Amino acid sequence: MGTLRERLKKVRTDEGRPKAPTRAKKAKTEEAKKAQLKAQTEVGYSVRKRRSSIGREQYLELKDNVRRKLLDALDLTILNELTEDEVDSQIRSVGGKLLDQSAVSFNREERDLFLQEIVDDVVGFGPLEPLLQDPEISDILVNGAKQVYVDRRGQILLSDVEFRDDKHLRHVIDRIVSKVGRHVDESSPMCDSRLPDGSRVNAIIPPLAVDYPVLSIRKFRSDTLSMDQLIAGDTISAEVAELCKACVAARLNILISGGTGSGKTTLLNIFSAYISDRERIITIEDSAELQLQQPHVVRLETRPPNIEGKGGVTQYELLINCLRMRPDRIILGEIRGREALDMLQAMNTGHDGSMSTVHANTPRDALIRLETMVAMGGMDLPQTALRQQISSALDVIVQTQRLPDGTRKMTYFSEVVGMEGEMITMQDIFKFERKGVSEDGKSLGEHAATGVVPRFLDKIRATGINVSPDLFIV
Ligand SMILES: Nc1ncnc2c1ncn2[C@@H]1O[C@H](COP(=O)(O)OP(=O)(O)OP(=O)(O)O)[C@@H](O)[C@H]1O
Ligand SMILES: [Mg+2]
Repeated sequence: MGTLRERLKKVRTDEGRPKAPTRAKKAKTEEAKKAQLKAQTEVGYSVRKRRSSIGREQYLELKDNVRRKLLDALDLTILNELTEDEVDSQIRSVGGKLLDQSAVSFNREERDLFLQEIVDDVVGFGPLEPLLQDPEISDILVNGAKQVYVDRRGQILLSDVEFRDDKHLRHVIDRIVSKVGRHVDESSPMCDSRLPDGSRVNAIIPPLAVDYPVLSIRKFRSDTLSMDQLIAGDTISAEVAELCKACVAARLNILISGGTGSGKTTLLNIFSAYISDRERIITIEDSAELQLQQPHVVRLETRPPNIEGKGGVTQYELLINCLRMRPDRIILGEIRGREALDMLQAMNTGHDGSMSTVHANTPRDALIRLETMVAMGGMDLPQTALRQQISSALDVIVQTQRLPDGTRKMTYFSEVVGMEGEMITMQDIFKFERKGVSEDGKSLGEHAATGVVPRFLDKIRATGINVSPDLFIV
């Protein structure tokens, strides 16, 4: 075989004349395409430590067999009355006996793994269990039975986890959604749900998902990141962290903008820790992810409509209700629609210090999204009046971004200053300046002050909080 260069050289000598450059180029493109495809389909995350003495097909067949016999042998009604550990050891003991009756002989490690997989299949979420248990994985993305991707430390990798077939995957989906009284079938082929630990789940099956059932899980992190960890991981600089802390304590209204999985909720959670214990905080979320530590917190969560399309409660309705609950601060998980205007009005009318997030790629885009959401909510507000509402409601927009190397950065800390004619004016106070990529693919850059001193500094100082002017020196 040899390298491409050697092969081309050989062709040249063989034929006595150089190959047409176009063909060489074509071969090179083909090679590049192959390499790209390989990279896309290469397993980047492996849970199969087992190098089993039997082949994959035979292994799956054996597992199927043992599982079926085990379900016949176990009294499932009794399992409900046992503790998790007792169920585990029951399944292992009966499963172990059934395994002994088969022709295969596993060593201790293989046997342990085999029985663990049986336990996962019978009482857990099957092949997803090892991924659910890995703290480094934040998302699990299942595209049909044979393609399970994971987001591990910010990188999307193909894993070697597989379901037996799409029926097996559907079975796991059913088990997940039925736990919260929901249901997926041809007549209601998509569904939001949650795992018992609070992880967010979305399932969508054919015919809406064209090829196969698709399951997306955002894992819930009980050990939420702290500001110190964000500083250590270079998501944010110590200077910006200090300023953020002062802004929250001084009741500025803050909007966190960013793309999917860029760390908006994580930041919102960290910011909320700086709210005083004496305040009444009300949180509104689609899926309760925030973990506030204060004693006086009321958590509200939306509800999707039931199978007949009834009983749904939206963020908008919860926000209207929340305004009657005497909140000192409102934390809205994400501004997504009709509630945009009411949130802005709440920020403008006595609920200062409120915070939310929005899906947008730059602080300026975040403003445009807010405008669009209000317009789509059916409020016929003149554009200038709306922009005035936005500019007086918001004090700060921070931008989060996930860089190609998987790290998260706070890329902008911007102040919303006011209006100039018809335009909302903003000024960047801090920026993350990207400086290319290192040899090993790491994004390079640094957090830097722009030299602009924010106008809100007086507001912060008026509350007795001291912010050093040195923070803003370039
Ligand atoms: N600065 C960070 N460093 C490392 N990991 C982070 C950081 N911020 C967030 N993460 C991790 O990334 C994942 C996504 O974070 P988070 O839920 O905050 O993102 P999000 O922007 O709110 O996502 P979504 O758009 O889906 O709501 C979580 O597992 C979280 O722990
Ligand atoms: Mg979020």
